[in-house]
Amino acid sequence: MQHIVHIHAGTEGPVIPSWLYGQFSEHLGRCIYNGLYVGEDSPIPNVNGMRSDVVQALRHIQVPVLRWPGGCFADEYHWRDGVGPKEKRRRMVNTNWGGVVEDNSFGTHEFMELCRQIGCEPYINANVGSGTVQEMAEWVEYLNSGSDSTVAMQRVQNGHAEPFNVRLFGVGNENWGCGGNMTPEYYADQFRKYQTYCRNYGDNKLFRIACGPSDASWKWTEVLMQQAARYMDGLSLHYYTVPGPWDQKGSATEFTTEKYYETLRKSLVMQDLIRGHLAIMDQYDPEHRVKLLVDEWGCWFDVEPGTNPGFLYQQNTMRDAMVAGLTLNIFNHYADRLGPCCIAQMVNVLQAMVLTEGDRMVLTPTYHVFDLFRHHMEGHLLESHVFSERLTASMPTVTASASVKGDVITVTLTNLSDTEEADTVLDFFGREAGGAEGRLLSGDIHAFNSFECPDRVVIRPGEVKAADGKVRVHMPACSVMEVTVHAL
Ligand code: AHR
Repeated sequence: MQHIVHIHAGTEGPVIPSWLYGQFSEHLGRCIYNGLYVGEDSPIPNVNGMRSDVVQALRHIQVPVLRWPGGCFADEYHWRDGVGPKEKRRRMVNTNWGGVVEDNSFGTHEFMELCRQIGCEPYINANVGSGTVQEMAEWVEYLNSGSDSTVAMQRVQNGHAEPFNVRLFGVGNENWGCGGNMTPEYYADQFRKYQTYCRNYGDNKLFRIACGPSDASWKWTEVLMQQAARYMDGLSLHYYTVPGPWDQKGSATEFTTEKYYETLRKSLVMQDLIRGHLAIMDQYDPEHRVKLLVDEWGCWFDVEPGTNPGFLYQQNTMRDAMVAGLTLNIFNHYADRLGPCCIAQMVNVLQAMVLTEGDRMVLTPTYHVFDLFRHHMEGHLLESHVFSERLTASMPTVTASASVKGDVITVTLTNLSDTEEADTVLDFFGREAGGAEGRLLSGDIHAFNSFECPDRVVIRPGEVKAADGKVRVHMPACSVMEVTVHAL
């Protein structure tokens, strides 16, 4: 099958902000404990308690933003439980996730240290559901005040003299559900009140994020924008790819071809959701000041057999890679409208980058997709159009996005077909291709990396050829590709 992508390379569009490639880490299952944090005394190599192998892998894909501490956990989290001497920290039941005891040994300072090691910006999501206005206000003061107030001095006594200057700040999570089962009208009022007391300290200006809708809950967006748009910088949408009803999601590794396509079809809905919520936001914010975040997204399948159902541990196949590829292509097209987007979650939970078992670590196909897309960060979006036979009425065979930095154009492509190869011509308008290289991730739709076989799905050189100013790309079935083009 022959496919064509038109790329308008002569006109640079908006910058693709790095924050589209963000991640999410929650106190859930083995994401924080064992996955990211093992403690200073662990035999697993670590720096200040953070796993060195995992941190090194995450540095490679240049994670820009990390959201924490939840998720549903955020609205039961009381930040004071996680600061000060570890032996005195309060032990709580993690009622959302498996009923295990959380010892709070990973708290604010540990999270900031993790972000420092990864080299990413922290995004803290605070508690509206079961926390007070005063508690939230004092967390901001603790984080960001450089004064000698009692609260700021506690941070100094706990080992951090300088303010952390956290900018990205979420006021509640899923307050329509686990964050308090609120109506949009009630939450809008709560948001207005809580955010009032989240002060700016020094030159640090908070980017205030309101809880947004789930899926196609248009009314939530409408009410929030109508009643609270002027108080927020971002509104966060959550959308998970769940193939089938919740009780029939199916296995992460054993699925039919029909389920594969159903998964992709559900992922493509992301485009309609972004478009639909932005259209509502436009009515109340015609200047596009408020960003739409997608700060929880990804595949949600059954947990791996024999694992704690509350830990949401699932394997990750080429099917997940296709979902990541097509979703990141969608995000790029909305570069100027989206705020931080965070895949759920970083390690050992849902559509993870990294899986760990004891001292072993494996990189998932999704990790490699983030590797293929990372050169888009801070590039200028190039308008692109795909002319491709459709797999079904609602599904293209090929998806694409393109960006440019100086003379280097990055094009990312997905071939969604499970059986058909896709020969694709990249046709540039305004500039010509002088040379090109490809990096390819492909495999059977069921292929995954395991601790026994960690390199089954890895990035290999892709087949690309530059001639007559165009680039010809050969994509195997079920593949994601990065094409680097040297423009003339
Ligand atoms: O990512 C798992 C959970 O999904 C989060 O805690 C919650 O916000 C969402 O429902």
